[in-house]
Amino acid sequence: MEEVKSGLENVVVLETGVSSIDGTEGVLRYRGFDINDLVYLPYDAVSYLLIRGKLPDDNELAVYSATLNEKRELGEYVQNVVRACNFNIEAMDALRTTISYMSHCDPDLNDNSEEANLRKATNLIAKFPTIVAAFSRILKGETPVSPDPTLSHGANFLYMLRGSKPTEIEAEAMEKDFILSAEHELNASSFASRITASTCSDLYSAIITGICTLKGPLHGGARMEVMNMLDEIPAPEAAEAYVLEKIANKEKIMGFGHRVYMTQDPRTIIFKVLAKQLAESKGETQWYRTAENIENTLFAEFMGKRGKPLYPNVDFYSGVVYKYLEIPPRLATAVFAAGRISGWIAHCMEQYSDNRVIRPRAKYVKPAKTLKA
Ligand code: CMC
Repeated sequence: MEEVKSGLENVVVLETGVSSIDGTEGVLRYRGFDINDLVYLPYDAVSYLLIRGKLPDDNELAVYSATLNEKRELGEYVQNVVRACNFNIEAMDALRTTISYMSHCDPDLNDNSEEANLRKATNLIAKFPTIVAAFSRILKGETPVSPDPTLSHGANFLYMLRGSKPTEIEAEAMEKDFILSAEHELNASSFASRITASTCSDLYSAIITGICTLKGPLHGGARMEVMNMLDEIPAPEAAEAYVLEKIANKEKIMGFGHRVYMTQDPRTIIFKVLAKQLAESKGETQWYRTAENIENTLFAEFMGKRGKPLYPNVDFYSGVVYKYLEIPPRLATAVFAAGRISGWIAHCMEQYSDNRVIRPRAKYVKPAKTLKA
């Protein structure tokens, strides 16, 4: 049998037209378009591109955005499920439960036709941010806020979260966050979703698989840990000692390192600019300066000791952006999911359209340890 590749590192398991990463040059493209260009479009256009494979014209975008607007409201039953999730949990857990409930209400649950899945896709993309915002407000004893059809996808989320409209720069940062979080080739959660889809299970089940996989701290959960780290470090000057102690204790610094990028993650560069703009616009630069000190310390430490740098990944400066957007840490991974939903759906639809069940092999070895009875 072939050599085992730990963590499937550098194993190419399928062909995709959804996105591509050049890890050496630090380039990420969705459907052939560089993310540095896509961040200037509305999230709706990028979501359309990912799922349908082409950018919408003005009319197609207007129709798509109008459909998303129609579907943003949760309705009484779904909102009651969010209410029932009023526990000291992460928004990801509430999202998982609510999407599972939504699947029971869909008469086309097990219809995997393209038509049915496109309809489910719009419903899921529209409702993810509403669920996260409603969960947050319910947890704080506040009434959920209805979406405002005049606002963009990103601005709407902040409006439903806070009950007041965000500033222009906040709205722009949120929209860009959703775009930059939307897709990333065969990351763990997209791969997991595709595995579920490959068994011809339904789209909701595949998306729930994605939610469950994104939650882990080695994947999307790192964003929440970055926010917690920023809370733990009392001042920018304390950042160096904080991270060096963690490194000395062989602990990982959340929001750093990547399996694929050998250079700067192109999303991080954009998030860093957004974090700086938000910090300056609010006249509160402490988190940004702390983050920069963490980045510089790790760069120098890894260059010095290993001869190669450790770069921040997408979760690092996005975590700083969330601090400035006043997004509570327990929401962070679910907000990431509210962007990534478009990528998950694009991958699942690609899988359904040309399917072969994903079933690799394992090499049997004697158990390393046995469990006590
Ligand atoms: N802090 C300290 N050391 C690190 C870090 C880090 N964040 N990341 C990697 N290293 C070291 C690691 O200790 C290892 O050293 P050694 O060879 O001496 O054991 C070496 O670099 C290679 O790391 P690895 O964990 O074997 O690399 P991987 O490709 O298996 O894992 C990773 C990639 C992203 C899971 C890992 O870098 C990590 O755990 N980072 C922290 C969690 C994180 O930020 N996750 C978000 C991932 S990117 C966005 C997303 O998916 O949401």
